[in-house]
Amino acid sequence: MKKQIKVGVAGCGYWGPNLIRNFRGLPDCQLKLICDLNTSRLDHLKRLYPGIQTGTDYGHMLNGANLDAVVIATNVKNHYPMAKAALLAGKHTFIEKPMAGCAEHCEELVEIAKKNGLVLMTGHTFLYSPVVRKVKEIVAAGDIGEIRYICARRLNLGLFQKDINVTWDLAPHDLSIILYIMGELPITVNCRGSAHITPGIEDVTTMCLTFSDQRSAIIHSSWLDPRKVREMTIVGSKRMIVYDDVEPLEKIRIFDTRVERPPHYDTFGEFQYAYHYGDMYAPYVKQEEPLKSECQHFLDSINSNTSPLSCGERGTELVRILEASSESLQRGGAPVKLSETFNRSGLKKAAAVTRSVGSVEIPGKAAVDRALRRARPARAEKPSKIKIVLTNENSVAQPAA
Ligand SMILES: NC(=O)c1ccc[n+]([C@@H]2O[C@H](COP(=O)([O-])OP(=O)(O)OC[C@H]3O[C@@H](n4cnc5c(N)ncnc54)[C@H](O)[C@@H]3O)[C@@H](O)[C@H]2O)c1
Repeated sequence: MKKQIKVGVAGCGYWGPNLIRNFRGLPDCQLKLICDLNTSRLDHLKRLYPGIQTGTDYGHMLNGANLDAVVIATNVKNHYPMAKAALLAGKHTFIEKPMAGCAEHCEELVEIAKKNGLVLMTGHTFLYSPVVRKVKEIVAAGDIGEIRYICARRLNLGLFQKDINVTWDLAPHDLSIILYIMGELPITVNCRGSAHITPGIEDVTTMCLTFSDQRSAIIHSSWLDPRKVREMTIVGSKRMIVYDDVEPLEKIRIFDTRVERPPHYDTFGEFQYAYHYGDMYAPYVKQEEPLKSECQHFLDSINSNTSPLSCGERGTELVRILEASSESLQRGGAPVKLSETFNRSGLKKAAAVTRSVGSVEIPGKAAVDRALRRARPARAEKPSKIKIVLTNENSVAQPAA
């Protein structure tokens, strides 16, 4: 029988309760503790799950609760300090997307997890969707030919975020799917957008990515649209796929549609595009909640001591693309080479992301850092006690630029 893993969830706002519901329902998980700074959220969850301990002290989650793993579903600015503290306390750690406010912090978390032999996973939920896996399977089998481009639209009215722009909020989903389907990182990233409601926080953005072999992708993200749209079109040389996540049943439709140029022509008059219109079919995909598979995968990775599909490295790559998008926004949509962001100093990376994520000092940050330094250096040793004091409004993960 698999070991029952003792899990605690920090952050019970909009998304945390979905993680709580799923972890609670998995047989190889013992959900022991729920933590949030907001006591009314805790009261609500207490009513739903009377058997689970609740508390506002994240430090207790790391020290006194005897947990194997911690799940972080707080605002993005708190991901890094909370995940760092969890890893240093010897806990396997799951961080919601995006993994942190800058790639430098992600790298540090990956390093600590590696050193301590811990599983570090990010919430790239759509990688666990049977629909997305089916799309990948169709593409990998060569059914649509060579990919030409992918166009993703994720639109809705809100939910407006205060610490990140719409790209950092919504595009991680599309990016994780696109990278999975393309099987490689983009070469360049450019992004344009505008802030209509909150000054300085873009609520509508369009990101363009270029890949090898002249392939490209466009991601349109918006909090300012009357309809909920979650749609991706994958255009291949032979066929095209439309993946509509809002559709209840036929989420994938494959169109036998293409355009061809004539192989030879002598005069311009002879030149004719050949439009091919064939059948459309919708393959059957068994419905399963992606989040449930994602939570199970985290537990399986801990039990088997293997790296998850959405491991810290994948989270870091994605944050690097988000950083490049912020830099491009700052430069009026100019293309940013992704390889450049790998080689830059931390200072430049920080500048790129500051506009989107915001930059505030943690009150008492030095005390937290000292506590973290005192925490256990390697997994084999017993963790020392850590006192973490994080406040909702002011704690933040920002690079030491
Ligand atoms: N995977 C997905 O599909 C998906 C969907 C939505 C949101 N998310 C991610 O989930 C995370 C949370 O988003 P949300 O919309 O639920 O945000 P939210 O603002 O609704 O909730 C965040 C909660 O964290 C709590 N919190 C903040 N600092 C804390 C601390 N130091 N200790 C304990 N609790 C603390 C807040 O009180 C709040 O209740 C974000 O990273 C977001 O991107 C993921």
